[in-house]
Amino acid sequence: MIKEGAQVDGNVAEVIWRSGGIPAESDGKVLILLLVKKDMMNGSVDSWLKPYIQNLMQSRLFEGEVNQTFVLPLPDRKPAETVILVGAGEHPLTAHELRLSAAAAAKAALKLQPDQVLIKIPASIGSYLVEGRNELAAHALTEGFLLGAYERAVYKREKPVYEGIRKVIFYHEEADVGQEEKEWEKGIRSGRAYAAGTITARDLTNLPGNMLTPEDLGEAAVELAQRYGLEVEVLDEADLREKEMGGILAVGQGSVNPPRLITIKYQGREDWEEVTGLVGKGITFDTGGLSLKRAPGMEEMISDMGGAASVLGVMEVLGILRPQVNVIAVIPAAENMPSGSAMKPGDILTTRSGRTVEMLNADAEGRIVLADGVTHAKEQGAVRIIDIATLTGAILSALGDIATGAVTNDETFLQSFIYASKQTGERVWPLPCYSEYWAMLKSGVADLNNRPGRNGAAITAGLFIGTFAEGLPWIHLDIAGTAYLSRERGVDPKGATGVMVRTIAQWLVENES
Ligand code: BES
Ligand code: MN
Ligand code: ZN
Repeated sequence: MIKEGAQVDGNVAEVIWRSGGIPAESDGKVLILLLVKKDMMNGSVDSWLKPYIQNLMQSRLFEGEVNQTFVLPLPDRKPAETVILVGAGEHPLTAHELRLSAAAAAKAALKLQPDQVLIKIPASIGSYLVEGRNELAAHALTEGFLLGAYERAVYKREKPVYEGIRKVIFYHEEADVGQEEKEWEKGIRSGRAYAAGTITARDLTNLPGNMLTPEDLGEAAVELAQRYGLEVEVLDEADLREKEMGGILAVGQGSVNPPRLITIKYQGREDWEEVTGLVGKGITFDTGGLSLKRAPGMEEMISDMGGAASVLGVMEVLGILRPQVNVIAVIPAAENMPSGSAMKPGDILTTRSGRTVEMLNADAEGRIVLADGVTHAKEQGAVRIIDIATLTGAILSALGDIATGAVTNDETFLQSFIYASKQTGERVWPLPCYSEYWAMLKSGVADLNNRPGRNGAAITAGLFIGTFAEGLPWIHLDIAGTAYLSRERGVDPKGATGVMVRTIAQWLVENES
């Protein structure tokens, strides 16, 4: 382990802010102008730009809508080789609209393969916001740009020559109005941290099964924890046997790549109290085990450790921002495979909590590993628990890939979490948790069964996990729809999104004391 408090600021581009005009160090290759509709109508834009804007608005080629971009090739290459107009929408703006605009700007800029990007913004942009704060604007713009600029790693023989954007410079031409610089510094710092954590989650989730086994996931966790000076522990199969983690062991027993249980501790408060447990599903590949999935689309099951990835992403955000909160991160990691040693439908498993499970479908493996994960989080001092998992196909039927489904035993806790999600722009939607749903988990021969039937399957799957919270305030997040997209959308790319890193971090920061 490296020394306590060592800080590295995530693997994202440098972002800076300047007032008083284009900074001297810029190469001026790509200039992005962030334009608010109101300013375009009033003609309060750079004088060289006025004739263009009039034409563009008249022809409706560019009207300043959020997500709209327009590349202006300038014959005399002034004030830059290429200018990209980016719409910021109707005044007043929301922070989320700025986030989306910045993501659109990043995507447009990447096509030109610049080394650095200049982004001209209105002075005191915070005053354009509903939320009215420069710091929020800076956070949203930074985060949106970095997330929008994300590209999945490719593994082709020919290495790409372009290495990505190295530096992003936000600026305006007015003089600093005093507080602005501090506010921008704070906003950039938190925006970069949220983006770095999200990108870490995306990178891990996008790794195929042959490049990320439970053992590899353990190594990635150790590397991340050590980078930020956090305490970390990885239990191997023998340790799991000793701890009687019958759930994780059963799911992992069919694979030649044995399971792991990863724990990372972030202590931001004097005492180890008020600990939030984050438990992430870490199935590095889900074949369905002996209840084998059909072949089409099975490759997407590389994302079945998306919950684990998001938990690690949150730990990175905490490692960078160092808020005064306590978190125990727990990741049960396994590969769900069919084989001569795999768990069999009908098997009765004994979890760490002592509860037994009648295992009726080997493809309902997530809840089984998470059961032991939740118990472990409790044993490590958690007083509330958030579990996050690509848990059910049923959540896709209910919400599509638009919203993360939530299940809870504590309405107030969930409401505060949904409030946080409104700041980050990630959608979270609650599912009902009536006692009749809990009753569906019963088994004739064990404490629980893991296949309560098709009806209400996203709810019962969540409640199965909640059983192991044993009355602690608990939220379950089903990200099966939102963790991995078939096409890019908003700040998210095709493939892994790192969903919920930002919302969980936001909730933790909002509930700092
Ligand atoms: N990992 C899957 C859920 C999933 C489906 C994630 C689609 C991402 C996209 C999970 O382990 C699973 O297989 N769930 C089954 C449970 C059923 C057999 C009770 C499901 O939802 O079909
Ligand atoms: Mn499964
Ligand atoms: Zn699964």
